Amino acid sequence: MLGNFSYVNATKLYFGDDSLKYLNDELPKYGENVMLIYGGGSIKKNGIYDDVVSILKKNGKNIVEDGGVMPNPTVEKLRDGVAKAKENNVDLLLAVGGGSCCDYAKAVSVSVNCDEDPWDKYYIRFEEPTCEIVPVGCVLTMAGTGSEMNGGAVITNHDEKLKIGHVFGEEVMPKFSILNPKYTMSLPKRQMTAGIYDIFNHICEQYFSGDDDNTSDYLAEALMKSVIKSSLVAIDNPEDYEARSNIMWSATWALNTLISRGKSTDWMVHMLGQSAGAYTDATHGLTLAAVSLPYYKYILPYGLHKFKRFATEVWGINPEGKSDDQIAKEGLDAMADWMEKIGVKVTLGELGATEDMIEGIADGTIILEGGYKVLSRGEVVQIIKESM
Ligand code: NZQ
Ligand code: ZN
Repeated sequence: MLGNFSYVNATKLYFGDDSLKYLNDELPKYGENVMLIYGGGSIKKNGIYDDVVSILKKNGKNIVEDGGVMPNPTVEKLRDGVAKAKENNVDLLLAVGGGSCCDYAKAVSVSVNCDEDPWDKYYIRFEEPTCEIVPVGCVLTMAGTGSEMNGGAVITNHDEKLKIGHVFGEEVMPKFSILNPKYTMSLPKRQMTAGIYDIFNHICEQYFSGDDDNTSDYLAEALMKSVIKSSLVAIDNPEDYEARSNIMWSATWALNTLISRGKSTDWMVHMLGQSAGAYTDATHGLTLAAVSLPYYKYILPYGLHKFKRFATEVWGINPEGKSDDQIAKEGLDAMADWMEKIGVKVTLGELGATEDMIEGIADGTIILEGGYKVLSRGEVVQIIKESM
C-alpha cells in the first residue's frame, strides 16, 4: 500500500543532443547578472564552456565567472561563492558541470541573501531558507547524482571531518536543467562508472525499505534494469548514445523524489559513504560502492523478502528449489559480479581510508531509521571494518 503524499517537481528539463539551444529560451526570464559556475576545467577542454558563454553573450548577459568548484565542494568554496554572488548582485546561478556544481549552486542560492553562516544554518542546524533564494539553472555534464532535478546540496567541511547533505524543498530545485547525453562522453571511465553506481544505489536506498506492494518499487526495479543493461553497453562503447541517454535519464528519475513517494526509504549506504568521503575526499559513487556489499549482506536477514524479490526481479535469479536465503544471497552475488564488471568493486582502504579513521567515520555516520534495521554504533563500526 502506498502511504499518503504530495508530489511536485519544479524543474523544467530539456533533454537531447541539441538541448543547449533552449538556454536561449530560459535566459530572458532572468536579470542580466549571471554567475557561471563550473568545476576544474573539463568544460573548457570539451568545448561546453565556449558554447555556453556564446549563448550568454548573445543574450546580453553580464558573466560573473565562478570556476574551480571541486568534486565534493567545500564549505570554504561555498563561503567564497556566496561573497562573490553578493558583490555582483547576481540574478541567476548557472551551474555547468556535474552534481558538485549543481549542489554548490543550490547552497549558494539559499545563502546569498542570508547573513548567517551557511554551514551552521543549513548543515548543522538543518534550518530551511528564510531569505530570498537566487534562482539556479543547470547544464549537466555528468550523470549520477540527480542534482539536476532535486533539492539536494551536499557540502564537505574538512576541518570538522563532516560531509553533509541538506535536501531543500521545491523552491531551491533548479528552475531548469539542460541534459545532453553527449556531454557525458568526455568523462573518464572511472567517473562514468562511479556515477553509474551512484544512480544504482540511489534506487536501492529507496527500494530496500518497507514491505508493501507499491508502484514505487516496480518503478525502481525498471530503473535498475535499465541502468544495469546500459552500463554494460557504455563500458564497452562509451560513445553509445542510446546507453548514455538511458543512463542520464535514469539518473534523473532515480533521485528526483518520484520513486520515494508513499514509502519509507533507507539511505544508510549514503550516510556511511558520505562519512568515509569526509575523511578520504574520495569520489562519491566509489565510497558508496565500498560500503554497499558489507551493509547489504548485514541487513539481508532483516529484509529477506525484499532481497529475494531483488534477486528474482532485478537479477533474474531462478528461485526453483532454493531457500529464500539462498535466492537473496545469489541476488547480492549477481550485484557483486556486475560491480566487478563495471570496475566499481572497491574497498575503503583502496579509497584512502586507514584503520585509525574507523572510529571517526563511525562518529560522522548519521544513523537513519527508515531501513530494515536501525544500526547501533557497534554495527556501524563493524560494517566500516568489513568495507576496509
Ligand atoms: O571539475 P571538472 O573539471 O568539471 O571535472 C569533473 C570532476 O572532476 C568531472 N567531469 C564532470 N563532467 C565531465 C567531467 N570530466 C570530463 N567530461 C565531463 N563531461 O567529473 C568529476 C566529478 O564531478 P562531480 O560533479 O564531482 O561528480 P558528481 O556528479 O558525482 O557529483 C558529486 C557530488 O554530488 C553529491 C556528492 O556527495 C558529491 O559531493 N551528491 C549530490 C546529491 C544530490 N544533489 O541529491 C546526491 C548524491 O548522493 C551525492 O551525495
Ligand atoms: Zn549518491
